[in-house]
Amino acid sequence: MPNAEFIFSDVQKTLSSGSFTWETPSNIALIKYWGKHGNQLPANPSLSFTLSASATKTTLKYFPVENKSSKIDFEVIFEGKPTESFKPKIAQFFERVEEFIPFIKNYKFEIHTENTFPHSSGIASSASGMAALALCLMSMEKEINPEISAAYFSRKASFLARLGSGSAARSVEGPMMIWGEHPAVKESSDRFAITNPFEVHAVFKDYQNTILIVDKGKKEVSSSLGHQLMIGHPFAKARFDQAYVNLELLIDILKRGDLKEFIKIVESEALTLHAMMMTSSPYFLLMKPNTLEIIQQIWKYRKENKSHLCFTLDAGANIHLLYPAAEKEEVLNFIQTKLTPFCEDGEFIQDQIGKGPRKI
Ligand code: PMV
Repeated sequence: MPNAEFIFSDVQKTLSSGSFTWETPSNIALIKYWGKHGNQLPANPSLSFTLSASATKTTLKYFPVENKSSKIDFEVIFEGKPTESFKPKIAQFFERVEEFIPFIKNYKFEIHTENTFPHSSGIASSASGMAALALCLMSMEKEINPEISAAYFSRKASFLARLGSGSAARSVEGPMMIWGEHPAVKESSDRFAITNPFEVHAVFKDYQNTILIVDKGKKEVSSSLGHQLMIGHPFAKARFDQAYVNLELLIDILKRGDLKEFIKIVESEALTLHAMMMTSSPYFLLMKPNTLEIIQQIWKYRKENKSHLCFTLDAGANIHLLYPAAEKEEVLNFIQTKLTPFCEDGEFIQDQIGKGPRKI
């Protein structure tokens, strides 16, 4: 059984009431995961930068129960208010992880969660949120069984987070994560993410990420549906093959600090992701007119200023700008003067590559 290593068997010890808190950053994929199979397994490997400022802080309070029920009893308190709408996704997560952390049946939970980024900013918190919850559950496992190693803790946290939301697998550590098996990356796995094991050029160590809020609305098509639409997609195979090639190229680019090649791969991955959406059946479009306006502005700015500013997109209209810290002042000036008019309420979030979650 391939997942046997992640099944916790020693359920003898019951903890008295307590809590754990983790602050867990979001991540932005440079090589995109789009398409999955089986139990949240990716159709191709992906590589991401872990962010720093954009994070979810989750406190998991646990209370032992006398009578175990078949369903886990829990409440979700988001920004201080009980939030029913978050429950179905978390209930599904508990169902999927119960096999691996059966001790959860002995408790009821209160999940207190909040994001450091504004709620209605169009930024998905599923990656940071699910990773934070998985880390809290792993802290419980460690409390019950202090013998587990730090490596096992992270690996299993990523494995559990993946069962909540695929990209969450990449939020349990930093600064760069690889999720999905690739022949050139020893230890890589479809079941959990690992930190990029290769050397990385100094220019990427403090790489900047500014998130331009183009649209604060909830996106019209969920990423779960988008992943599904890759099944039977006419370009799926070519896309998945391309991701394998791009991942290996990017690993080398990250080593060499080759910013020109970095831009080519990163922007191509972003546009390819959206091209897959536009060519699925049914087709859909998540970019907005202002997304395209901003892309044109970036290309113009780059040409005129010999800059290394580039962009990537996730499954939405917002733009993630990526650039070296040495260019921060000029780029921020460019954002303020030329790009904020295309942002909803002129909003953007300043972030950069980060080290990963913090236990509080
Ligand atoms: O983790 P999900 O199921 O929300 O999918 C995320 C997919 C992208 O953000 C578009 C790409 C990625 O690799 O994060």
